[in-house]
Amino acid sequence: MAKIILTGDRPTGRLHVGHYVGSLRRRVELQNSGEYDKIYIMIADAQALTDNADNPDKIRENIVEVALDYMSAGLDPTKSTIFIQSMIPELTELTFYYANLVTTARLERNPTIKSELQMRGFGGSIPVGFYTYPISQASDITAFKATTVPAGEDQMPMVEQTQEIVQRFNYIYGETLVTPHILLPDNKACLRLPGIDGKAKMSKSLGNCIYLSEDPNEMKKKVMSMFTDPNHIKIEDPGSLEGNTVFTYLDAFCRDEHFAEFLPEYNNLDELKEHYTKGGLGDVKVKKLLNNVLQAELEPIRAKRAELQKDIPYVYDVLKKGSEVAREVAASTLDEVKAAMKINYFDDDALIRASIEKYSK
Ligand code: TRP
Repeated sequence: MAKIILTGDRPTGRLHVGHYVGSLRRRVELQNSGEYDKIYIMIADAQALTDNADNPDKIRENIVEVALDYMSAGLDPTKSTIFIQSMIPELTELTFYYANLVTTARLERNPTIKSELQMRGFGGSIPVGFYTYPISQASDITAFKATTVPAGEDQMPMVEQTQEIVQRFNYIYGETLVTPHILLPDNKACLRLPGIDGKAKMSKSLGNCIYLSEDPNEMKKKVMSMFTDPNHIKIEDPGSLEGNTVFTYLDAFCRDEHFAEFLPEYNNLDELKEHYTKGGLGDVKVKKLLNNVLQAELEPIRAKRAELQKDIPYVYDVLKKGSEVAREVAASTLDEVKAAMKINYFDDDALIRASIEKYSK
């Protein structure tokens, strides 16, 4: 069976380093591994509108930002199809049919939806579109017959919902859809990179993000202000790694080579951690290392972005061409889905013949 990737992001802002270590960096590796037959990367504007109906400008403006982030991080439009969700109306049609296979009780149990509802403060007034976006996400994934969804931990409930829809669809209508699997980051720190304030999630509204395209000085300021161990007051004090954001980021970004380059008194992160927990290592030194590591990792991405920003029409053209390619694929799956569901009234001679027969006696 073909190995196919589909994944994507909501265009509600520039992408941050949490997106990068959680999925984007991996996608680029998978793309360049040559192991996948097709790779689809989707800018989920329609999904973003499910909780931004009153703010379409925000979504509109951020489409190009996300595309710039993608391509500057190394997604290559000659290897991956980058497209915009709303340009594929077939996805909405699939969603309408899949909605019949999901109960409201099942939607209510979705833990990601639960926590998002809480964060958005919708109270009792939940938009139906928001509530049902896991179904639309099942359409995104199945329309491309994706086998693999590289994403962060928060997307697990969406992929599980998709698996259930596939199973139920194939059971009722016959083997048609492909069951996808999530591909989580293998490094624990990358599963859910906290914000610089140590809060669980990096989010624009909390103002605790480091963006992929962050200006170098701004990035340094953010790193130097990061949450560490509040009980590590004097340098001699033993420090704790638990919930220590600076170390979580080092876990996500640091490689042994970085020590040779930036802090040769240690061979690797384990040695640094050991010193920190024993006492005698100050936060400032660790933060400086992290800043150097982040600057080194993000500099090539920043440089690529600066180049791409000089040719914005090219970026839109990539999205337009990608959307055309994606639409054809989704349309072909929709045809199969409708045929399986027997909603192909005009291209089924047997149906017409049966009707003739019925009335010919
Ligand atoms: N839910 C994803 C996010 O919050 C975006 C998304 C939409 C997605 N459809 C998808 C991710 C399909 C993976 C597969 O960013």
